[in-house]
Amino acid sequence: MKEKLAKIREEVLGQIEASQSLEKLNEVRVSALGKKGALTELLKGMKDVLPADRPKVGQMVNEVRAEIEKALEGEKEKLEAALREARLASEVIDVTLPAKKNKTGHRHPNTIALEEVERIFVGMGYEVVEGPEVEKDYYNFEALNIPKDHPARDEQDTFYINDEIVLRTQTSPVQVRTMEQGKLPIRMIAPGRVFRSDEVDATHSPSFHQIEGLVIDKHITFADLKGTLAQFAKELFGEDTKVKFRPHHFPFTEPSAEVDVSCFKCGGKGCRFCKGSGWIEILGCGMVHPRVLSMSGIDPEEYSGFAFGVGLERIALLKYEIDDMRLLYENDERFLKQF
Ligand code: DAH
Repeated sequence: MKEKLAKIREEVLGQIEASQSLEKLNEVRVSALGKKGALTELLKGMKDVLPADRPKVGQMVNEVRAEIEKALEGEKEKLEAALREARLASEVIDVTLPAKKNKTGHRHPNTIALEEVERIFVGMGYEVVEGPEVEKDYYNFEALNIPKDHPARDEQDTFYINDEIVLRTQTSPVQVRTMEQGKLPIRMIAPGRVFRSDEVDATHSPSFHQIEGLVIDKHITFADLKGTLAQFAKELFGEDTKVKFRPHHFPFTEPSAEVDVSCFKCGGKGCRFCKGSGWIEILGCGMVHPRVLSMSGIDPEEYSGFAFGVGLERIALLKYEIDDMRLLYENDERFLKQF
């Protein structure tokens, strides 16, 4: 019995030391101390031991049991500590690594320019309105005094949806839509996308943006138009900016003009930017044609007004000195993040 006990002790302690995992260790515990374990089996042999020797043998078995339990406990702690170490090592955070930067978006130069123009006109009491991009021929042409056979139609290469419907070639139809509502006086700007079947190059695109302006009230004169646009140019390009009105022709205004601003790069002396002339063309304008007023239900005897149309891309290109319009549409991050 004593030898058997010594053998069990030896074996079990060896197994405990060799167990590499908590699962293995548990198997050893069961095989030694469990209901069918080696030590339990051994105790069943007690009945063959002399009654006088039993307390002694019992004590020996208990000692071995205690020794095995202690070894099991010790090994368990060791294995658990090793597991914890391994986990900590795998979860280690290097606080010296550079932080990941969140990329923030940038406003598109068109958006910046539009917000600037809106700010200026809203400051003068204008309302910002919108109109549809898919527009009736009537609003885009007819009601703007451009009848079917008018040569001005050829200047604006139009995308036709059908005989009656076009992609608007200008924001001017929003003038008509606003006047038709019959609420007077009017002081509005209408920014938006327009379409022309142009080839793409540094200064053309089949889709670009305009900002229309319209003022209708009693006693509006060309002087109001000049004063308004002079103020607009100063706010947009700087206090020293001068404006020049050149006679022009638009079917929906009479008289009509194109407006140049003194070159904000050279102050008017002439440079590469203004192609040596000292002036840069920025918009078209004029006094609303009496026919356009009456077609929209406004009495030209009582009311008069002025209108203007600005190319948004043109403003953005000028203000940010961008020399190719295509850059505005390619959305190349290296370009956009400069704004
Ligand atoms: N709609 C014109 C164009 O696209 C621009 C324009 C000129 C608008 C004169 C106006 C204006 O309101 O009065 O070329």
